[in-house]
Order: sequence, then structure tokens, then C-alpha cells
Amino acid sequence: MISTSFLFSFTIVFILIFSSFSQTYSNPHNIIQETCKKSAASTPNLTYKFCVTSLESDTRSRYANLHKLGLISMDLLRHNVTSTRREIKKLLRNKKMEEFIKGCLKDCVELYSDAVPTLKEAKREYKNRNYKDANIKVSSIMEAPTTCENGFKEKEGIISPLTKNNSDVFQLAALTLSIINMNLHDIQ
Ligand SMILES: *[C@@H]1O[C@H](CO)[C@@H](O)[C@H](O)[C@H]1NC(C)=O
Ligand SMILES: *[C@@H]1O[C@H](CO)[C@@H](O)[C@H](O)[C@H]1NC(C)=O
Ligand SMILES: *[C@@H]1O[C@H](CO)[C@@H](O)[C@H](O)[C@H]1NC(C)=O
Repeated sequence: MISTSFLFSFTIVFILIFSSFSQTYSNPHNIIQETCKKSAASTPNLTYKFCVTSLESDTRSRYANLHKLGLISMDLLRHNVTSTRREIKKLLRNKKMEEFIKGCLKDCVELYSDAVPTLKEAKREYKNRNYKDANIKVSSIMEAPTTCENGFKEKEGIISPLTKNNSDVFQLAALTLSIINMNLHDIQ
């Protein structure tokens, strides 16, 4: 008799401990997967895999909530924008480059340079939870990789050396935008 009720309460306690345990340890992972599922479903050109790989590359994402994930996404974007800009400048040092390509790269440097301060403003708006203004800023940043990539398409036979880089920046900006909008819907 004793053993049955003992076993019963023991089981209950065990279940309680276990469920609080699994909540603590599985939520951080789930929020990335959930966020990425939603983002990929609602964002053309953003894949689930790109989203998960990017967010998981920052160790802070393990304990992040949705708001924090947005900041992480912005930091990834900023890192990508600044290193792409630096790399394009390096490419421009090549003296033997075709004039047309050189012109395209110069346009790209300018586009990416403009994106840096805009991103800083976007982060400030986001931190202050002005999600609508953050949305506008990040949307304008998405035009940099698109315009840069399209420049190379204006002449036949030219292959953009920046396709992968522009696509990374575009996807990170799209991901950031999608997280901003999720925050916006959370407070409405
Ligand atoms: C997005 O995907 C469409 C269709 O696959 C493609 O035409 C377009 O170039 C892509 N845009 C970017 C910025 O990658
Ligand atoms: C840009 O972001 C992508 C996706 O997170 C990553 O794979 C790539 O290494 C980043 N590139 C740079 C130069 O930071
Ligand atoms: C573009 O991305 C590739 C692959 O990630 C990288 O090796 C290259 O350095 C990048 N180029 C520029 C100009 O950022």
C-alpha cells in the first residue's frame, strides 16, 4: 500500500522535475527552429537552413528570446556588410580589371558604405522597440545587395564576382526584417 502511493508521488515529482528541466534546456533551441520556420515560410529567397546555421553560429542565440535574436541577426548582418565592403575594396586594387566590372564594383562599395550607418540607426530603433522605423531602415539595406548584383547583369557575358556575398547579405537582411516584424506583431 505504502509503496503504491509512494511510487505515485515519486512519479509525479519526477515528471515535474523532468518537464521543467526539458523546458529550460530545449526552449533556446526551439526558438531558433520556430523563428526560422516562420521566417523561411514568409520570406522569399530565405532558406530554413541558412537561417538556422546563421543564428546558431552566434553562441548567444542559445539563451536568446525573440528580441535578442533580432539583435544577433543584425550583428551578423553588420559583420557581413562590413567584410563584403572591405573585400570589394580589395578587388578594386586589381589594376587589370575590365572597366565595366570596375564601375560595378565602385557602385557596390558605395551601396555597401551607405548601408553601414543605416544599419547602426536600425539597431538603435530596434533597441528602443521602434519596430516600424527599424523595419524601414532594414528594408532599405536590402536594396544594396540587389542593386549591386543587378549592376553586373547590365552587360552580357559578365559574371558577378559577388553573387554569393550579395545573396548572404540579402538573406541576413531578410531574416532580420522578418524577426523585426515578428516583434512588431508580438506587441500588437
Ligand atoms: C530571389 O529569388 C528569385 C526567384 O528565385 C530570383 O529571381 C531573385 O533574383 C532572387 N533575389 C535575390 C536578391 O536573391
Ligand atoms: C555572411 O553570412 C553567411 C551566413 O551566416 C556566412 O556563411 C558567411 O560566412 C558570412 N560572410 C562573412 C564574410 O561574414
Ligand atoms: C565572397 O564570398 C566568398 C565565399 O564566402 C568569399 O570567399 C569571398 O572572399 C567573398 N568575396 C567578397 C568580395 O566578399
